Amino acid sequence: MDNGLTWEKLERAVAGCRNCPLCRGRLQTVLGRGSRTASLMFVGEGPGRQEDEQGLPFVGAAGRLLDLALESLSFDRNDYYIANVVKCRPPANRTPEPSEAEACLGFLRAQFSLIRPSVIVCLGSVAHTNLVAPGEGITKARGKWVQKKGVWFMSTFHPAALLRDESKKILFWQDLKAAKEKLLELKKEMKPAL
Ligand code: URA
Repeated sequence: MDNGLTWEKLERAVAGCRNCPLCRGRLQTVLGRGSRTASLMFVGEGPGRQEDEQGLPFVGAAGRLLDLALESLSFDRNDYYIANVVKCRPPANRTPEPSEAEACLGFLRAQFSLIRPSVIVCLGSVAHTNLVAPGEGITKARGKWVQKKGVWFMSTFHPAALLRDESKKILFWQDLKAAKEKLLELKKEMKPAL
């Protein structure tokens, strides 16, 4: 375990965090959901109203779309973990400010250290610009693989963007399929030679 980091310590630190102004508007913090031993992680932007109420990420309309796409590709719910760049709901669901993302990123990095995923899929440009390439647009970046410190990153559209523009659904689905294939490929590489 990294520097005595545990889920209990992280949960306590996030629940009590007052590092940025977003803490003033939250009902509760939203840490993550899914398997804490998953080799795949999804990272979104930040909680919306329903996430703030339930304390879980991606439980609103965008989350239902994500769950449906994952089910259609036979991802098992135990095979992935979902988190966000910021753990508190931004007012009126606005995009988190860079300073708010910066103040919160340590928690996401702690989640990476505890889970140790081999593949991270960034959902939308806030996750992409904070984790992969600052300033790069998602339309250009989506579907491309980048390896950082031994972890494979790929970015795709945020599921909420698909609710606004149906034509993005096919590319989103292709990206999730590519993530599944990458995981299978990595699993094969790890199998000991006979
Ligand atoms: N959008 C996000 O980015 N995260 C959520 O948890 C919900 C909607």
